[in-house]
Amino acid sequence: MKKNKIFVACDTSNLNKVKKIIKYTKNKKLIVGYKFGLEFLNSKKGRTFISKLKNEIKFGDYKLSDIPNTVRSSIKAVKDLKFNYITIHINCGFKALIEAKNVIGNCKLVGVTTLTSLNDKSLKEIGFDKKVKELVFHQAKLAKKAKLDAIVCSAQEVKIVKKVFKKEIITPGIRLNSKKDDQKRVLTPNEAYKNGADWLVIGRDISKGNIKNNIQNLINHLDK
Ligand code: C5P
Repeated sequence: MKKNKIFVACDTSNLNKVKKIIKYTKNKKLIVGYKFGLEFLNSKKGRTFISKLKNEIKFGDYKLSDIPNTVRSSIKAVKDLKFNYITIHINCGFKALIEAKNVIGNCKLVGVTTLTSLNDKSLKEIGFDKKVKELVFHQAKLAKKAKLDAIVCSAQEVKIVKKVFKKEIITPGIRLNSKKDDQKRVLTPNEAYKNGADWLVIGRDISKGNIKNNIQNLINHLDK
């Protein structure tokens, strides 16, 4: 049977917590990769730990959003960490996406569409005229044009993204229950896979509380 693929978000600056997350999420039924966000990447021991982490699928969630020159040099600056995936905001523009793609090497360049913590109302607040679904569709077309390797979007937009973007789709905003926290566009793991997501990103539903139990709950849910 095909194994489900999960990126576990290691959202902490505490190295021991990250070690625990990695230890307790290993499971024969899943393919697990580890996503490191700004919190851990900028922590005192984070960089060294990631540089020594071998034989794991490593995801550097830098969410780059800058001018082309800065994006290019930032990607070069973390080459030694040997990430398999690195994120960039599609909103930083076509030129920056191309520059990033030119220097990314073997690593996959992942375009972040609209954050899962935003809804139509938040977009209006920022000054966007489009609804979330329209904006994500537009961003997916730009990601295709820039030949990005993967896209991050909410599981609610996977079907829309798939119309134009044929490579990997990674979905955060995954919840096993009704507790959304700061997320706005959420779905359950089974709903996300059903919509066609290749990878799910799960943070707090795995890392908060008893990690082993949380993984077992996830597997029980996926078996349903
Ligand atoms: O704890 P939770 O499962 O909500 O964590 C989601 C993770 O996915 C966080 O690490 C967050 O930075 C990341 N993410 C997101 N929405 C995006 C892109 C990344 O929530 N659009």
